Amino acid sequence: MTQRHNQIMQGEPHIRVHDVTLTYGNYIVMKDISFSIRKGEIFVVMGGSGCGKSTLMKIMLGLMPPEKGDVFYNGVNFWESSQDKRNQILENVGILYQKGALWSSMTLAENVALPLEEHSDLGHEQIREIVSFKLSLVGLTGFEEFYPSELSGGMIKRAALARAMALDPDILFFDEPSAGLDPVSSRVLDDLILEVRDSLKTTVVVISHDLESIFAIADNSVFLDLETRTMTAAGNPRELLEESRNTKVCSFLTRGKPCT
Ligand SMILES: Nc1ncnc2c1ncn2[C@@H]1O[C@H](COP(=O)(O)OP(=O)(O)O)[C@@H](O)[C@H]1O
Ligand SMILES: [Mg+2]
Repeated sequence: MTQRHNQIMQGEPHIRVHDVTLTYGNYIVMKDISFSIRKGEIFVVMGGSGCGKSTLMKIMLGLMPPEKGDVFYNGVNFWESSQDKRNQILENVGILYQKGALWSSMTLAENVALPLEEHSDLGHEQIREIVSFKLSLVGLTGFEEFYPSELSGGMIKRAALARAMALDPDILFFDEPSAGLDPVSSRVLDDLILEVRDSLKTTVVVISHDLESIFAIADNSVFLDLETRTMTAAGNPRELLEESRNTKVCSFLTRGKPCT
């Protein structure tokens, strides 16, 4: 069996980050980051504030090239691809940024319709139907004509999720989904992330330092260490909690309790 055939048999990872390094001048933001994300998996990039999580997300989303290393989508080298090919890859990716979730001057329906108007040839009526359906998936039926300022933080995040799902992406990225949410809204969003993955088989990449959420949703993870600027653990967070001998990983996963 050829190596290529072997790879296909084992299933190419949906996303693969290989040996990524990024510096600002002399300042190393991250080095030697490598991991694979399988199709339909909820993968969490975790670590304390300032460890490089958002920067890594930008590198994976084409907003910033790595200094060294590669990002592959379905085996295609993203940063070595043409701009057209990169755009094509990104059309399959929905993104929820930490801030600036929705356009404040537009209703929820208009916000969710926007990507469909920009990236599809669908007619007005079809778009309206898709918008209603996506808003129903996130529990916001009846809120079509509301403006973001009329909604709670949790509802805004859910509407942003509906917008990120407008074009039926294969991959969803979330930067700190629970940031700024109360525990109940945060839990509702976690349940929704699980539901979306289970029903639509979407691959989900979540940037987070929220332990409760991490344990609730993650199949797999990497831990970025602030001090050494590299990844010091990878795997299922519950298993890491049981098994990791790295004191900083333990301390993060136990909120600073001594590790056993
Ligand atoms: N444009 C930039 N120029 C210089 N340093 C930056 C820039 N963006 C981020 N950084 C630094 O890179 C590090 C990682 O930032 P970030 O990826 O936002 O971390 P996180 O999302 O984990 O909190 C931080 O120390 C931050 O100050
Ligand atoms: Mg961040």
